[in-house]
This record gives sequence, C-alpha cells and structure tokens, in this order.
Amino acid sequence: MSDVETRVAKHYSGESLLENIRSALRASGVDPDAPDIEDLKPVDEFHTGGLEATDALLDQLEITQETRVLDIGCGIGGAARHVAARTGAQVRGFDLTPDFVDTARALSDLVDMASSTSFQVGSALDIPEPDNSADLALMFHVGMNIEDKETLFKEAARVLVPGGTFALFDVMKGSESALTFPFPWAEEAAFSFVTPPSSYRSAASTAGFELIAERDRSEFASDFFERVFARFAKAGGPPPVGIHLLMHETGKVKIENYITHLHAGDIAPVEMIFRLPAQG
Ligand SMILES: C[S@@+](CC[C@H](N)C(=O)[O-])C[C@H]1O[C@@H](n2cnc3c(N)ncnc32)[C@H](O)[C@@H]1O
Repeated sequence: MSDVETRVAKHYSGESLLENIRSALRASGVDPDAPDIEDLKPVDEFHTGGLEATDALLDQLEITQETRVLDIGCGIGGAARHVAARTGAQVRGFDLTPDFVDTARALSDLVDMASSTSFQVGSALDIPEPDNSADLALMFHVGMNIEDKETLFKEAARVLVPGGTFALFDVMKGSESALTFPFPWAEEAAFSFVTPPSSYRSAASTAGFELIAERDRSEFASDFFERVFARFAKAGGPPPVGIHLLMHETGKVKIENYITHLHAGDIAPVEMIFRLPAQG
C-alpha cells in the first residue's frame, strides 16, 4: 500500500463497525441477526443520494444475470448487494479498507447474499482481478481518494472485456475555489484528489474508453439533502441506521462542508458512463 492508500484506509476504518450497525438495527426495531437487504440501505450506500443515486445510474445500464459486475471501492457492499438483488448478476467487489471488506462480507452473510456477492481487499490502482474478467465496472464515490486517474482507468480497461462498460459516480471539482476540510472522503487535503470532469474524460480516453453519457447531479443532490433533513426534523433527529456510522465524530461537519461547497458550485457529484471498443 502507498502512503496515501494507508491514510485513506485509516480514514475509513472503524473497528467496531459491524457491531455498531447491529446495535443501530436493534435500536430501529430490526432483528440484527435477520435484517432485510432494505434495512441496510440507510448505511450501506455511502455516496451522495444513497440508493436513489445508485438506481439512477443503474437505470442507464443493461445488466442481466450473465453480466459479470465489478464494484471498484465497494465500501461495505451496499451497491454490490443491490445490483445482485435487482438483476440476478454476480457482483465482485474490492476495497482498500479491510474493515469495510470484512463488514461487506458479514452483511452479505446476514442477508443471505454470500453466493451472489463477494468481496476482497485491493486497490483500484492494482485491481485484484484477471484481465478481461468483467463486463461492467461500477464505481461510486471513490475517485476523490485517487490522484492517479490514468492508472485507475488503465486498470479498469485491463479487467474489462472488449466492449465492456465503466460507469461511475464521483464528486468532482466545479470551481477553482479552495475546499474547506473535512469531507466524508478525507479529513484533510493530503489524501483528497477532487478533480474536474475533464481529468476523468482525458484519463478515460488515454485508456481507450469512449464517453457514452455524462450527467451533473448537483440539483438532485441539493434536493436529496433537503428531503433528508426535512425528514430528520419531522422525526426529531436522524434514525439510528445511517451513514453517520461510517463517518466518525466529525460526520456532521463533513456533511456541512459538502453541502456548503455543493451549493457554491465548488464541487459537483457527476455520473459518467464509458465504454471500451468492441474489438480490444
Ligand atoms: C465514500 S466511500 C464509497 C464506498 C462505496 N463505493 C459506496 O458507495 O458505498 C469510498 C470508498 O473508496 C475506497 N477507496 C478509496 N481509495 C481506493 C483505492 N485506491 N482502491 C480501492 N478502494 C479505494 C475506500 O476504502 C472507501 O470504501
């Protein structure tokens, strides 16, 4: 692991994560030994817009039972489980943070999805998968921790088959203004690499990808946060199961900084869908 990767993994690590999620499930009235996949959704989709954003990206993709799906930087496995449940596809995920991978496996066991999802530790800069082994690569909110976007796209191109698709949803830079830390993906600037959409396009093009679709999701994100906070206000506070469980004690200020910079246009959550030529 590089120095940056060690810092990134430390940032996300949480020793008692599984126990904390189980306690939160219990506090919500859910049996922690037998949750439904939906009970995990408030915590296991750790990106802007949660499950809604996952579905919005998936709606643009063709995924069948035969599609071999790879989830790059899978976190605790929410998107992987959702794709497998929604489409019947086999989903393989990997992530830099060992605590997240352990939790992803444990949660898939809990919801009986260990046969359709699998998880391992690994870096997006050295993907732990063979050449030409996936039809579709997904990536939700990972590129903000990756400086070397050229290697990221080269690795994605290596593991995808000719004609394969790489669909991602990342927070990207929207202005030249300096960012105020912390953010959900980084406590400090030293391991944050939020870059403009053009840097993704050019790294993807160098790796041989063609851009199929691109969509700025800033408006959706603002609306999403508005709805979430209105719900919290009505309920007298956030529910026990939520992404606060993944963000440690600075969770509140991380979200506040995100929303401030989102509204100022300094950052923007953006979807991009790339495809490799059918002939390799
Ligand atoms: C904000 S979380 C998103 C997790 C997951 N994709 C989701 O949406 O729920 C970012 C994730 O990226 C992972 N990550 C960051 N840099 C990575 C890298 N170079 N290789 C693999 N995973 C990485 C982190 O460990 C973390 O789990």
